[in-house]
Amino acid sequence: MSTISEAIFYSEANQNRFIDELIDLLRIPSISTDPAYKKQVAQAADWLVNHLKSLGVTNAKAIHTDGHPVVVGGIEVDPNYPTVLVYGHYDVQPPDPLDLWISPPFDPAIKGGILYARGACDDKGQLFMHLKAVECWMKTSGHPPINLKFILEGEEESGSASLPGFIHKNKDLLAADVVVISDSSLFAPGVPSITYGLRGMTYMEITLTGPDRDLHSGTYGGAIHNPINALAALIAEMHDADHRITIDGFYDRVRPLSRREQITMTVLPFDADAWVREVGVHLPIMESGYSVLEASTSRPTLDCNGIWGGYIGDGAKTVLPSQASAKISMRLVPDQDPSEIAELTEVWLRRRVPKSMQLQCKVLHGAQPVLIDTESNAMEAATRALRDVYDCSPYFTRIGGSIPVVADFKHILGLDSVLMGFGLDSDAIHSPNEHFGLDRFAEGIEAILRFHAHYAGTGSVKA
Ligand code: BES
Ligand code: ZN
Repeated sequence: MSTISEAIFYSEANQNRFIDELIDLLRIPSISTDPAYKKQVAQAADWLVNHLKSLGVTNAKAIHTDGHPVVVGGIEVDPNYPTVLVYGHYDVQPPDPLDLWISPPFDPAIKGGILYARGACDDKGQLFMHLKAVECWMKTSGHPPINLKFILEGEEESGSASLPGFIHKNKDLLAADVVVISDSSLFAPGVPSITYGLRGMTYMEITLTGPDRDLHSGTYGGAIHNPINALAALIAEMHDADHRITIDGFYDRVRPLSRREQITMTVLPFDADAWVREVGVHLPIMESGYSVLEASTSRPTLDCNGIWGGYIGDGAKTVLPSQASAKISMRLVPDQDPSEIAELTEVWLRRRVPKSMQLQCKVLHGAQPVLIDTESNAMEAATRALRDVYDCSPYFTRIGGSIPVVADFKHILGLDSVLMGFGLDSDAIHSPNEHFGLDRFAEGIEAILRFHAHYAGTGSVKA
């Protein structure tokens, strides 16, 4: 048997144990955005360090940051081999609303070959495929056919605030030829894709304050402006009738889709009606002049993620609240800049805030949008690997989500990323009942092994 066949055979023979180990990791509620879970995030980092060590990555360690720890480690097989830096994130989104889960989010359950748990797909399940690929090589050939390094972070879901600083400080430790990330999706079941575009992000929290305390809405209503009413009006004004964002200058730096991208998007096997129906909606709504696929992957957005103020308990309370707040995220596309968009938004808001109120604006985090060159040895190796596994060539796609570190790898280390993901849009990431098909877990490991083998052959100028 060839070395790659042996490694794949080993993966197939050990799938059940691999899944049991992943379930162990999924039990740890490593919710990065909630300070109450700081210990659990650190626990997940330690779990990964121990697991990497058990695979033979003896130098694995968790490095402390101002935020959550970063797990690093690597195997240098031969300085002449190309080096792949594997990125993944071990933190997860909050599981709320809990009552909608069919099984508890941190008590993983398998039903019909599908693993349900917070993080099953995003991203513990996907990063674990890379660890298991290492094991497959170690237990069959004794080492991978390339050099491997890992950088696993615990802050991705809350904006990766510590990571740029960490990368700056650890350039040598992270030096590589390319980054590989599995934190995105297949185009459809059995249809592979390589993501070459990610949207960026500006995330803000805004608060309007009116009266200095909650008031009786009978005594004061009609004469004192209500902050919830005012905030709702501002949010409504942020889009026009064509669903374009009205913030002055918002679109100034937006790079239009190339002609080639526009054509590709029309030939992708994307069923917009089915995609919309799958989330229980009858009609899509998007910026005039764009298709569902264009609007959801390659155009900027503004969404209110949460809004609060006043009385939200049972029954009715007649109150004119002192404050109203909203969390607003804006997905950005090249060449928009997260800080500039935050400034433009604040200026726009300040011009419109009613005179009777004060506005507070906080930027929670930002991420640069990304477009990756699809012509490279690593892209070619990934294309071949996916073709081997799925019997069809991957599509090159842009996705609407964000992975902040991808831009940092490019700007700080000069490294491109290969985004080879095995999720599905329907895996309910960030939603109740997140899941990951065990078939895709196995396919992912095989594709990663084949990627290593192809990249070893063709991947680097050094090879
Ligand atoms: N895995 C996602 C990115 C993603 C989203 C891939 C949708 C494929 C489809 C990632 O973990 C994520 O959710 N990122 C955050 C980043 C944000 C907090 C800056 C996101 O996109 O909301
Ligand atoms: Zn993720």
